[in-house]
Amino acid sequence: MKLAVVGGGSTYTPELIDGFARLRDTLPLTELVLVDPAADRLELVGGLARRIFAKQGHPGKIVTTGDPDAAVADADAVLLQLRVGGQAARQQDETWPLECGCVGQETTGAGGLAKALRTVPVVLDIAERVRRANPDAWIIDFTNPVGIVTRALLQAGHRAVGLCNVAIGFQRKFAALLGIAPSDVHLGHVGLNHLTWETSVRLGGPDGAEVLPELLAEHGDAIADDLRLPRPLLDRLGVIPSYYLRYFYAHDEVVRELRTKPSRAAEVAAMERELLTMYGDPGLDEKPELLAARGGAFYSEAAVDLAAALLGGGGGSPVQVVNVRNDGTLPFLPDDAVIEAPARVDRRGAAPLPVPELDPLYTGLIAAVTAYEDLALEAALRGGRDRVFKALLSHPLIGQSAHADTLADQLIAHNREHLTWA
Ligand code: G6P
Ligand code: MN
Repeated sequence: MKLAVVGGGSTYTPELIDGFARLRDTLPLTELVLVDPAADRLELVGGLARRIFAKQGHPGKIVTTGDPDAAVADADAVLLQLRVGGQAARQQDETWPLECGCVGQETTGAGGLAKALRTVPVVLDIAERVRRANPDAWIIDFTNPVGIVTRALLQAGHRAVGLCNVAIGFQRKFAALLGIAPSDVHLGHVGLNHLTWETSVRLGGPDGAEVLPELLAEHGDAIADDLRLPRPLLDRLGVIPSYYLRYFYAHDEVVRELRTKPSRAAEVAAMERELLTMYGDPGLDEKPELLAARGGAFYSEAAVDLAAALLGGGGGSPVQVVNVRNDGTLPFLPDDAVIEAPARVDRRGAAPLPVPELDPLYTGLIAAVTAYEDLALEAALRGGRDRVFKALLSHPLIGQSAHADTLADQLIAHNREHLTWA
């Protein structure tokens, strides 16, 4: 089985390699290709990757290349984890929206739109190369904004599934709090990527006993602390929002914080410099502790699980939380919207499980952000200031036309080198 990782020079990659090594019975890789335009990073990351495989006795071959066509040739699955413009572009996304009093974040709000505009054309170009090389290959998209990018891929007819680690993070957290195995925690996880709520927590499977009320009653303080949301809010909702909902439920508070502290991009960039220095040490043959602070926890487990289920052969959980075409699952959304929900995953792809009726408290926000994602994709595919303006105006965290105008100008000014039409 051959797998290619696009953006393989990312500092995240050793996390993934560690997962491939530990979980080799679930996903028996014979070849892993890391492809990245940054040759220097690729060399450092590739070297450590080979040492991790060697130490753990993984028989698979690790290849590094700058050529995407060579990388995807004969690949059974291609994992996308690229970042157009790197942390420097992310730094911009997190900064200029604050001038309007809007959240500056890499996937939520105006910053997320900028990232979508930079990313969608690049991802579609790679997906075409994958399809030319092997029309049966699966594309697993971890590239943000995952909802919009997955929608772009599906709309262009690619065999793609979108992946995020928020759900697996909750699953692991709840399992630890309940003192049970993660595989025994079944989440009623619903919404859009980075706009989700856990509406139920069942033991053993989708029909198991409901324990969300007890979980909240006994561990509500710990969960609220983690999400940095007020405990009484969780009690009033009776569901557990993902930490991305803080950008909505505590928007102005977040903006005040972001204005006074260094950006996450700057933090990550500093960590990355340190990580790359460590990766260059020929004595290092496992993922360093510091990588845990880089984020993306359990990403490797989620990616292995998803690839194993899509490629068949018995590995991988039958039900996984993924980004998938709605197709009536949330009846208030168009069929071609991309939702994030538990789905049955096998060689044929991912099919969402039925979702119980949702409260208007959630359907309203999900519908509004879906409309934004639709307009964002239009802007990413077709370009033009007017489309950028409309996507911004539609976003529930922006909404005012004067802000949408200012933000449209800022977005274009800061991203000109990445936008062919600007
Ligand atoms: C979470 C999200 C990912 C995102 C990551 C950013 O894991 O689910 O989509 O890429 O956070 O982490 P960072 O360490 O770069 O802030
Ligand atoms: Mn994510």
